[in-house]
Amino acid sequence: MSLYATATALVAPGKGILAADESHPTMAKRLARIGLDSTEAVRRDYRELLLGTPGLDEHVSGVILFDETVRQTWRSGTPVPAALLDRGIIPGVKVDAGLTPLPRFPDEDVTQGLDHLYERLAEYVTLGARFAKWRGVIRIGAGRPTAACIEANAHALARYAAAAQEQGLVPVVEPEVLMDGNHSLEQCAAVTTVVLRTVYDHLARYRVDLSGTLLKPNMVLPGTTSGQQVDDEDIAAATLGVLRDTVPVSVPGIVFLSGGQTPEQATARLDALNRAPAQPWQLSFSFGRALQAPVLDTWAGLEENRGAARSALLHRARMNGLARRGRWAADLEPHAAA
Ligand code: 13P
Repeated sequence: MSLYATATALVAPGKGILAADESHPTMAKRLARIGLDSTEAVRRDYRELLLGTPGLDEHVSGVILFDETVRQTWRSGTPVPAALLDRGIIPGVKVDAGLTPLPRFPDEDVTQGLDHLYERLAEYVTLGARFAKWRGVIRIGAGRPTAACIEANAHALARYAAAAQEQGLVPVVEPEVLMDGNHSLEQCAAVTTVVLRTVYDHLARYRVDLSGTLLKPNMVLPGTTSGQQVDDEDIAAATLGVLRDTVPVSVPGIVFLSGGQTPEQATARLDALNRAPAQPWQLSFSFGRALQAPVLDTWAGLEENRGAARSALLHRARMNGLARRGRWAADLEPHAAA
């Protein structure tokens, strides 16, 4: 399958990506919230509950796995990537090695993991992965982000994307401008514009074939402590304005991260984005928390809650599938009926 064919399959109409690639420390935090210790067996069982949900493939085109999961087998003994492919879900893998402080730039990070990346990518291909993800993080604050931080992250994303394509993997390029802070919607738009422009400049410089990539950006939002009131249509308009200024039309799809929005907020905004006049790219999702939070809460680590937890996942997947087509409505959510 060509890179373009994989990228377009990942953003097939009505479908999006489930991000289940939490690192060990992040997974430990999520499990601690429901009173569980994060052991390899618990992580495997939780992810089997999640990814083994019957019917998930109706609205989930691909799953981003963590290094540990891509090597695991389900309880039946089937390797995880093969089990996903069997059901028509494309396996992907997070290939960055997390954040490290950018020396001399307080509160700024760069993503590490370029050393030996080429060899690691080759191994992921043999394990069954068809796409990859690398996340860079940009913070808005006093004097931040600096040009140096934006450049360093764009450089790493471009080096990663070129290496992934060379090994036959579709790179999901994720430059995340965090929503933490008291900045305005307009400030987030300005920063996201510079970040995306810099990223596409570097992708071109490193000879990345954009038709075989996906962009995973933040939505343009006011900072969580800004107090600025905006509606979903304002967010959609600001986000589309930035994307139209920066993302080449040869990119097949844009898969938003949820970034700490509530599951319903993320869905409502994706819906607003898809109600706007047609855009040159598919506008889809690659949600982690916005798909998993209700599952973890419902499961609470108890065997008897498995069915309900899977229903919670299917519900969110269905809602996001509708939002992909601009056909979601608030009264489809459970609390609306309550
Ligand atoms: P969130 O949707 O929780 O932001 O996670 C998506 C992701 O994969 C971040 O890298």
